[in-house]
Amino acid sequence: MTLKQRIFSGIQPSGNLHIGNYLGAIANWIKLQDEFDSIFCVVDMHAITVAQNPEMLRKKTIEIAKIYLAAGIDPKKSSIFIQSQVSEHAELCWILNTITKIPELEKMTQFKDKAQKNDKESAGVGLFDYPVLMAADILLYGTEVVPVGEDQKQHVELARDLAKRFNQKFGETFIVPKVFIKEEGMRIMGLDDPSKKMSKSAASEYNYISLLDDEETVKRKIKKAVTDSGSEIVYSNDKPALKNLINIFSSFSGKTPKEIEKMYVGKGYGDFKMQLAEVVIGFLTPFQEKFNSLSDEEVLKILEEGSRKVEKLAKLKMKEIKEKIGFIV
Ligand code: AMP
Ligand code: TRP
Repeated sequence: MTLKQRIFSGIQPSGNLHIGNYLGAIANWIKLQDEFDSIFCVVDMHAITVAQNPEMLRKKTIEIAKIYLAAGIDPKKSSIFIQSQVSEHAELCWILNTITKIPELEKMTQFKDKAQKNDKESAGVGLFDYPVLMAADILLYGTEVVPVGEDQKQHVELARDLAKRFNQKFGETFIVPKVFIKEEGMRIMGLDDPSKKMSKSAASEYNYISLLDDEETVKRKIKKAVTDSGSEIVYSNDKPALKNLINIFSSFSGKTPKEIEKMYVGKGYGDFKMQLAEVVIGFLTPFQEKFNSLSDEEVLKILEEGSRKVEKLAKLKMKEIKEKIGFIV
């Protein structure tokens, strides 16, 4: 029996994981795994809410798990597993659908964004229902804390509302989870457009630095990153492009934005960008070495062990839920 609080989080195996995913999500998980009873999921069922190539989906699913491990998630401390391998997620999603109201989902900003991108007429029901599946992921394990980037806050709020609603209707069943968001500065913006967050589904590869980009690519992308007018290195809201680059520098170097400003007094963007590339590469090189040293077989074995561990919890919870709602179990 553990007395630690439980955390649950996940990332979709689609697109290229970038430094924003690392700084906004994974780096945070690594710190939390000692303090919390942690479950980290590769959410492949969420990924198929937009069209995926099957071979690619398989490849990306293993890749995300390798990224978790290479970044420092320790399978001895945390459970890592693939969402579709524990069928209770889909089962609970269905039950939660029956207490979710259509307008609650219609107001979700991620749905509105994605539906617009893929043209509203062809947006699937799965995409609409995405937040309910996410609520199922969270509630199935009695999760107390959900560490995610700011963009996921609205989804965690829905999970809270559904937990309370279910408890009210059927009696105390779910823990009402709390969202945990890292401090400001951790929302990493696109290198080509600092008004939007860095995104793995961005149209241009110059939007992001992938965790698997090689040295030359990192240098090229940072060189091309948009900057603001003026030439001094200052950290201010009037200079969103530079602010974002300083945030990245700060996160990977441990230096504060103030210290970074001081380092570049009298110097220009050229020097700053060159050293920023070095700082990012300094993180990526050992990370990629670890990533490349992991075999698919080894990772699949860890995922399988993870599924077996969490499945026990999921089955117990599902039984309780089914009894509460009047299913014969
Ligand atoms: P996504 O890439 O949207 O599947 O998000 C996976 C995780 O990374 C979530 O917890 C997000 O909040 C976080 N995340 C995604 N993009 C960024 C970003 N640009 N800056 C900070 N966190 C991010
Ligand atoms: N929707 C999340 C994202 O895109 C991924 C996710 C799915 C998740 N299920 C979750 C995150 C449960 C936290 C908890 O980032």
